[in-house]
Amino acid sequence: MKVVVGITGGIAAYKAVGVVRALVLAGHDVHVVPTLAALRFVGKPTLEAISRNPVTSDLYDGVAEVRHVALGQTADLIVIAPATANSLAKLAHGFADDLLGTTVLASAAPVVVAPAMHTEMWAHAATQANVRLLEERGVVLVGPAVGQLTGTDAGAGRMAEPADIVAAAIDAALAANPALDRTPPPDPADPLAGRKVVISAGGTREPLDPVRFLGNASTGRQGVALAVAARDRGAEVVLLAAHLEVPVPDGVRVVAVTTTDSLLEAARLEAADADVVIMAAAVADYRPATTAQGKLKKDDLGDSTTLQLVQNPDVLAALAADRPTSRQVVVGFAAETESDRERLLELGRHKVARKGADFLVLNEVGFGRGFGPGDTAVIVIDRDGRIVAEAAGPKSSVGAAILDAVVRA
Ligand code: CTP
Repeated sequence: MKVVVGITGGIAAYKAVGVVRALVLAGHDVHVVPTLAALRFVGKPTLEAISRNPVTSDLYDGVAEVRHVALGQTADLIVIAPATANSLAKLAHGFADDLLGTTVLASAAPVVVAPAMHTEMWAHAATQANVRLLEERGVVLVGPAVGQLTGTDAGAGRMAEPADIVAAAIDAALAANPALDRTPPPDPADPLAGRKVVISAGGTREPLDPVRFLGNASTGRQGVALAVAARDRGAEVVLLAAHLEVPVPDGVRVVAVTTTDSLLEAARLEAADADVVIMAAAVADYRPATTAQGKLKKDDLGDSTTLQLVQNPDVLAALAADRPTSRQVVVGFAAETESDRERLLELGRHKVARKGADFLVLNEVGFGRGFGPGDTAVIVIDRDGRIVAEAAGPKSSVGAAILDAVVRA
């Protein structure tokens, strides 16, 4: 769908780049209309590169194409993120003194705004009255969220996360016009279009007896996010699913695996004709030396007991060593409990060399950190240990960024 993203002049403007990027990666035709104030926070070249379309703010640019109304007339959706207090006031009262103002007035498309400002400005009666006016007119508001603001203060006024803004915006567009495509057909020129991408996700489990296992905290969210991102870019995706705690996405072939051995078997089979292999699963390095056929009983084990473990094969290293062609890209993950950035990178450089992978996605984990629905932060290094990408935020946008980095190289 054709989406106009209006960006107004607040510090959260830098986060609007994430909104534009997510919409573009989902296949939408995105036209960014920043206000002049927004351009003091984020540069026009960035917005043009990310949106893949020319960017203007000026009413007097492209006059021959009647640009001040053409964008609005042809848009399926208008998203304004961040929306400052000033821009909410202008929108509420129909000001048309810049390209964003004329675009909104010339459009019948749904308008979704993500306010961002200091708590006092948000709470002010004038802003609240403007918000009510906009809502009465059918404008959809996303956020603001409560959290850390620009200075040392915290409270309501933080811009909602880009993924939440995009989800609400697409919902609003589909509610207004069900004929639109939620995910338009992928770009046939995408380097991933028609490629086979194999992704392992979740955590393997090694049985101790019929009811107990050795496992780990992985939920599979990051692997599933990668699968969705690859699918949306037109790839044929196979998800090697080890005990996922999230639903499997549509349009992806799922192969269920349990132990490290079963993952190795499935991975070897699927990787044989794959273009990209991504090992996002947390793989059990050891398994019990024996698996009891019946339930282990305390009466037999006594007050304390010792578990003997034997090492499992290294799936990633095996796949990297036996690639069907040198063109196949093999990507590993490394979740490390190391908070020092340099030491984390050092561990990563050592690991990427030991595994023989082309790329390693590094992230720091801890008790309750790195696993589950929250945000994540990763550094992607190549086989020589060079940093090729860094990304932070929801796993969906981090997944898209990882894919971008390993495909671009
Ligand atoms: N991996 C694998 N097979 C294993 C262990 C890990 O394929 N038996 C993969 C993981 O899927 C991940 C990468 O290797 O992509 C790194 O996993 P990690 O657990 O960080 O590495 P280990 O080799 O287990 O090293 P460590 O001693 O740090 O646990």
